[in-house]
Amino acid sequence: MKCITVSASSAYDVLVGAGLLDSLGRIVRAVLNVPTAVLVSDSRVDALYGDRAESALRAADYRVIRYVFPAGEGSKNTAEYVRMLEFFAAQGVDRSSCVIALGGGVTGDLAGFAAATYLRGIPVVQVPTSVLACVDSSVGGKVAVDLTAGKNLAGAFHQPRAVVCDTQLLDTLSPDFYIDGCAEILKYGMICDRALLDGLTGPDFDREEIIARCISHKRDIVCRDEFDSGERQLLNFGHTFGHAVERLSDYRISHGRAVAIGMAIMSRAAARMGICPEADARLCCEKLAAFSLPTECEYTPEQLAAVAAGDKKRRGNSVTLVVPKEAGRCVLNPVPMDRLADYARLGLEAL
Ligand code: GLY
Repeated sequence: MKCITVSASSAYDVLVGAGLLDSLGRIVRAVLNVPTAVLVSDSRVDALYGDRAESALRAADYRVIRYVFPAGEGSKNTAEYVRMLEFFAAQGVDRSSCVIALGGGVTGDLAGFAAATYLRGIPVVQVPTSVLACVDSSVGGKVAVDLTAGKNLAGAFHQPRAVVCDTQLLDTLSPDFYIDGCAEILKYGMICDRALLDGLTGPDFDREEIIARCISHKRDIVCRDEFDSGERQLLNFGHTFGHAVERLSDYRISHGRAVAIGMAIMSRAAARMGICPEADARLCCEKLAAFSLPTECEYTPEQLAAVAAGDKKRRGNSVTLVVPKEAGRCVLNPVPMDRLADYARLGLEAL
């Protein structure tokens, strides 16, 4: 079994390998010598992997308490979060317990935020089961729930004590959902790793190698800027217009596909403005297309700019855009709100 360990920081490791779920208890025991593990997953993941995870934890002498919430983005809300905290309290979960977040981005965020705030913080181990969670959300400590006013508006930074990324768990993802997460892999290629981008020709890649490589990039960025005040914002490449596309489509366009469109818009806009070579912007779009990810949308520049202007990352009258200088190198560029439509207009024009 190939297992790659990425030291995410001096505080925790990320293990990437096929079949790691069955060693979960042993892996967690090595970093957390507590009696109780609260295994949190959604109804879909619980049905697929809950029993295996529980057995692996029990084999390492954990008392396991299982909590299952309804699968779907709609569960990432304050009601579900409070329900989880109340369950922890009713079960007598205390500081000698840890949370095991077994699932995709919603589970990692929801269980991670519950762990960050319950008793002012108990340890969490992330066990990602989606591509997006493996390469992005399980690493770096951002946890949150959505408010009515927008996504991820209540959250915390709560670093996991370990991340256990079993690549076999990706086998049960629908092809659509698998591809969706690959947009975030291509994102790393554009922001900091041209060779990664060049080497990717489609969804059939060496999972352990590629996931571990993305995680090391994230590790490096987060180590330099844990609290998102500078360089970490590079990870938002494609997200300003991507979030706008998601919202304009009423979330019918999924996150990864919307981010793909956002990356294509920013690459074409940067080429049109003479910031990025045209060939590199084309390369970004070609790589997205090789994964069957979209690079166009039906929305007007004005619609995109208007929705992007409401983004939570706005600071006063400006927003920080992540702009490619070339394939493999992006920079942060604060722009006034009234320039957003220019970027959207140029980014929607064919090269
Ligand atoms: N998902 C972006 C970040 O962790 O900063």
